Amino acid sequence: MTEVSVAKNDVAATDELVVLKSVNKHFGALHVLQDIDLTIARGEVVVVIGPSGSGKSTLCRTINRLETIDSGTISIDGKPLPQEGKALARLRADVGMVFQSFNLFAHKTVLENVTLGQIKVRKADRKQAEEKARGLLDRVGVAAQADKYPAQLSGGQQQRVAIARALAMDPKVMLFDEPTSALDPEMINEVLEVMQQLARDGMTMIVVTHEMGFARSAANRVVFMADGRIVEEAAPDQFFSNPRSDRAKDFLSKILHH
Ligand SMILES: Nc1ncnc2c1ncn2[C@@H]1O[C@H](COP(=O)(O)OP(=O)(O)OP(=O)(O)O)[C@@H](O)[C@H]1O
Ligand SMILES: [Mg+2]
Repeated sequence: MTEVSVAKNDVAATDELVVLKSVNKHFGALHVLQDIDLTIARGEVVVVIGPSGSGKSTLCRTINRLETIDSGTISIDGKPLPQEGKALARLRADVGMVFQSFNLFAHKTVLENVTLGQIKVRKADRKQAEEKARGLLDRVGVAAQADKYPAQLSGGQQQRVAIARALAMDPKVMLFDEPTSALDPEMINEVLEVMQQLARDGMTMIVVTHEMGFARSAANRVVFMADGRIVEEAAPDQFFSNPRSDRAKDFLSKILHH
């Protein structure tokens, strides 16, 4: 249904943008991330899949430091994630994040949602920020909604605004955590199409999704997680047609045949 054929970007394996080394995290007794090693090249699109509770969201949240880690290192564009303060705010702005629930500011207009971060964090002046916001809203197909409030938009439109808001910060990498799973079926494609276009434009993306059509057509690599570990990584064609681990085989049989 979401199958779109696109030429995938060639990514230089040497140009590392996001690097996780031996990352461990616990929630109390739960070892939620176990020795995670993951390197994402500039321009690469990585889809993360796996059973509920396997640690996919936690992985995303550690990459922009919404969650701390217990051991290991995470670096973005060669810089280790700082502990706190202004350096952390700046680095976090390099990582755009789009959640399942759109998390727009309800009492701000669409345009204000997309200008606010530019003015507060990137210190842009209002006129330039608005100009950029309008350009981005046009790019995601919601330019006509600029003066509305989020509640006046459909879920698909709200999620596209959330993507525009993240892009307004000029992130080096975009994280998407199940961006379409709260949407009605007819709105899923309009969001996936925006993401496809971003991928074609060369954005580095980490996408947690169960949309296998998107994974097949846009991802350079699929990372399969189970029980806090990366169990398997492969090119999408290889992963879907020939998963190696029993965990992946079992997972795929459940999501592909229901
Ligand atoms: N703040 C928290 N405190 C305690 N436990 C947590 C916290 N956040 C997540 N967990 C637990 O960590 C595990 C991994 O959660 P996470 O949300 O990363 O999984 P997930 O792979 O994203 O799952 P889903 O597919 O359901 O979104 C789960 O067992 C969850 O209950
Ligand atoms: Mg999750």
